[in-house]
Amino acid sequence: MTLRVGAEWLPSALLLLQVQGSLSLSGPHTVTGTVGSLSVQCRYEEEYRNYIKFWCEYPCSPLRKKIVQTTFSEREVRSGRVSIRDYPANLTFTVTLDSLTEEDEGTYKCGILSPFGHDPMFQVTVSVFPGPSSATSASCSWSSW
Ligand SMILES: *[C@@H]1O[C@H](CO)[C@@H](O)[C@H](O)[C@H]1NC(C)=O
Repeated sequence: MTLRVGAEWLPSALLLLQVQGSLSLSGPHTVTGTVGSLSVQCRYEEEYRNYIKFWCEYPCSPLRKKIVQTTFSEREVRSGRVSIRDYPANLTFTVTLDSLTEEDEGTYKCGILSPFGHDPMFQVTVSVFPGPSSATSASCSWSSW
């Protein structure tokens, strides 16, 4: 038996893949990581390509500060252990939580500051299991919208 050390993809990281709620933004409803780092990928509609993307903690009321968000000039922004990177070329953005601990468990949302009124947001539940440090990743289902 071989013991694997270091970063590896855990099958358990891929849960969910069903889209509901916001019609213009999609992502994984649930992501599970072990202590280490976790990435969440959210996909959006083309009309939102040039707008600000953010990650916030539930319930993410409009006035509450976002954990991290892009700016018009910066597509990649880091705040502490959390970073967000927008890829307008393929209409996705990725949020990465480094040094994940069990205290990061909770409900979050990825969202977009919309010029059209209501900000599209997509709720993601993060679960963390104690374990050896490893990189975990989850990607969203592609919505047909
Ligand atoms: C979008 O592009 C980025 C950068 O090239 C890449 O890392 C990411 O995996 C891509 N996402 C999809 C869904 O193709």
